[in-house]
Amino acid sequence: MIENKNILLGVSGGIASYKVLDLCSRLKKKNANLQVIMTPAATEFVSPLSFETMAKCKVYMDMWEGHHESVHHIDLPKWADVMLIAPATASTIGKMANGIADNFLIASYLACEKDVIIAPSMNTQMLLNPATQKNIEILKSYGVKVIAPESGILACNTVGDGRLEEPKNIVEYLEEYFTNKDLKGKKVIVSAGPTIEPIDFVRYVSNHSSGKMGYNIANEAKKRGADVVLVSGPVKPFAIKGINRIEVKTNEEMKNAIDENFDNADALIMAAAPVDYKSSIVSDHKIKKSGQNLKMEFVENTDILKYFGNKKTKQKVIGFAAETDDLIENASAKLKKKNADYIIANDLTKAGAGFNMDTNIASIISKDNIKNLEKMSKTELANQILDLIR
Ligand code: CTP
Repeated sequence: MIENKNILLGVSGGIASYKVLDLCSRLKKKNANLQVIMTPAATEFVSPLSFETMAKCKVYMDMWEGHHESVHHIDLPKWADVMLIAPATASTIGKMANGIADNFLIASYLACEKDVIIAPSMNTQMLLNPATQKNIEILKSYGVKVIAPESGILACNTVGDGRLEEPKNIVEYLEEYFTNKDLKGKKVIVSAGPTIEPIDFVRYVSNHSSGKMGYNIANEAKKRGADVVLVSGPVKPFAIKGINRIEVKTNEEMKNAIDENFDNADALIMAAAPVDYKSSIVSDHKIKKSGQNLKMEFVENTDILKYFGNKKTKQKVIGFAAETDDLIENASAKLKKKNADYIIANDLTKAGAGFNMDTNIASIISKDNIKNLEKMSKTELANQILDLIR
């Protein structure tokens, strides 16, 4: 996590440097420690005073400032847990690749033994220029990590690659960078959202599951180094990166998608809310109103968790129980009936738990233990659940 991490932020002279003030603000809110170095060109775009104010630190620019107490371009990299250069302009990237230490930032980079991350930002043609591309490749070969620039409208009134990655995504990148990769080598299947079962050509049955819990688990598992397969029912878009997402609609599709990945998986976390019943007949055209009540028969659907609970060999199988009555009793019965290793039980009637919320109040139930958790964010709960499969 970013809290208390020492981030040495290098700012070079591109128009995107104004966005890096927002980055500083976001990092400070997460209690990161910052030190800032600006190139002379960067100070043409944003005043050092702005960085001092947002990053709450001294801003270093001058190579020749007094060396009597310490040699700053040597000591700052020693202090850092990581060095981040944002924006990294074509010129700064070129100097880094070729070791031209003609300013404080490059001298610090050359003295830095810690990981260095660059977030390039420039005009599309400058980015695509073979010299820039070659320099980026050289830096990658030296182990420098690159946060690829986005595509979009650029300050030069063109549209293309070269826009600095959004500050919130750079923060996400750093969050992931600092997360302990304790799930590396594990394959984790996570299901999320509702399923839907058709009634006719236009109608279906479903439920209010938002998918938040499942997407949180998938994102956190990815940050912790797992190979994640996310099997998702229809949900509103969520941000995910580097996750193999399989979109499904019905229970059958969800079960099949999981099955295709199950044999070499280490864990299945069923955070989805598959629909329990499906119509016994699905009309392939729209059922017209007849002036009479419509009678339909619903048959019980595949219980996906139970199917994989019975199929598991080495896999840890984790399910949820969303209850309104007799939480522990009902959840324990589900654990047994579905042969799960754990059930994450939550009482839908409690304020701060349930569908569409950002928080949850859960109990982790296993064969011989019940652990009651405090109210916490779905992200925190996701990590508690992932601790079960380390
Ligand atoms: N589940 C499943 N397949 C279903 C229904 C539920 O895999 N057809 C999974 C859910 O993903 C969850 C767990 O089973 O992990 C419990 O879901 P829940 O809706 O609480 O329980 P149900 O088994 O559907 O029982 P009931 O609705 O009667 O409480």
